[in-house]
Amino acid sequence: MALIYVSAWSDAAIWRAEVAKHLPGETLRVWPEVGRAEEIDVALVWKPPHGALATLPALKLIVNMGVGVDHLMADPQLPKGVPIVRLVDPLMTEQMTEYVVLGVLTGLRRLLDYRALQAEQRWVEIERNVAPPSHRTVGVMGLGELGGDAARAFRALGFKVAGWSRSPKHIEGVETFHGMDRLEAFLGRCDAVVCLLPLTPETRGIVNARTIAAMKPGAWFVNGARGGLVVDADLLAALDSGHLSGAFLDVFNEEPLPAGHPYWRHPKVIVTPHIAALTLPGMSEQIMDAVKRHKAGQPLRNVVDPIRGY
Ligand code: NDP
Ligand code: OXD
Repeated sequence: MALIYVSAWSDAAIWRAEVAKHLPGETLRVWPEVGRAEEIDVALVWKPPHGALATLPALKLIVNMGVGVDHLMADPQLPKGVPIVRLVDPLMTEQMTEYVVLGVLTGLRRLLDYRALQAEQRWVEIERNVAPPSHRTVGVMGLGELGGDAARAFRALGFKVAGWSRSPKHIEGVETFHGMDRLEAFLGRCDAVVCLLPLTPETRGIVNARTIAAMKPGAWFVNGARGGLVVDADLLAALDSGHLSGAFLDVFNEEPLPAGHPYWRHPKVIVTPHIAALTLPGMSEQIMDAVKRHKAGQPLRNVVDPIRGY
């Protein structure tokens, strides 16, 4: 049986070399050069074209080479019953935690305002009585692999930390909330809100006029997860009205963010191009482990629940 790489990235040579290193004897075909489709049992994928996986009749395993599986879940022809393993890797988590710490500190330490003053060569203390971390609350929406680590990192920096998830969680030193009916109570505590939720039918548009109104006046928003979680018009309205002090955004409803989109030039917005946490060749051990487990008939790890959609 054979492996195929079906990806929006144009880096097949890297993954061919990684397959040769970790799975001696296996070769990696690269979409659309499928060859005999009935020989392919494993697909390594990142945002495969919708319908592509349905052309592989012997497919037994889909390995998502990134974390989020929303693109796969949106494929109307996604083969049913084929397990999907997603990427969970300490290097991914480290990158995301670094990103959201950067995002939160940028807001809470008023970096955009100081940058504007610097442009005018003005030496001005915007705030004399800056609230120290122990007087501020950082809220993390999503307490999974990434959100859990981020929450612990904010604790380690001395912040009060709140977290929100679907099911109850216990994280040392973190005030946790769960379920839709506790979302607004959670949001109302936070000086900065970090979004690390998966995009599912339940979470799409969860950052909207109602939930933003539940955030503290002057709160700062960081999105490292998916653009579809946010209703852009509502976020822009809250930035323009001053209800939110700013937003640090890595992900967008449309990527690349279209030219002329209001986020590009908004003085209260920082845009990064979906680089918060990238798949690196150094993560190939985790990726290839899924293939090895499948070939050895061992239980798979990090399997996506098709009902929950993450
Ligand atoms: P996990 O699946 O490990 O965690 C998801 C968390 O979200 C869980 O705590 C889960 O709750 C919670 N959640 C899901 N649905 C709901 C809901 N309806 N209500 C409340 N909470 C909910 O995901 P990861 O932490 O690994 O990744 C999160 C997302 O980050 C990915 O899906 C991806 O979209 C994004 N990402 C972005 C990257 C970038 O570069 N910008 C890179 C990597 C990931 P519970 O624990 O109860 O199940
Ligand atoms: C993602 C990723 O899910 O880059 O965005 O892995």
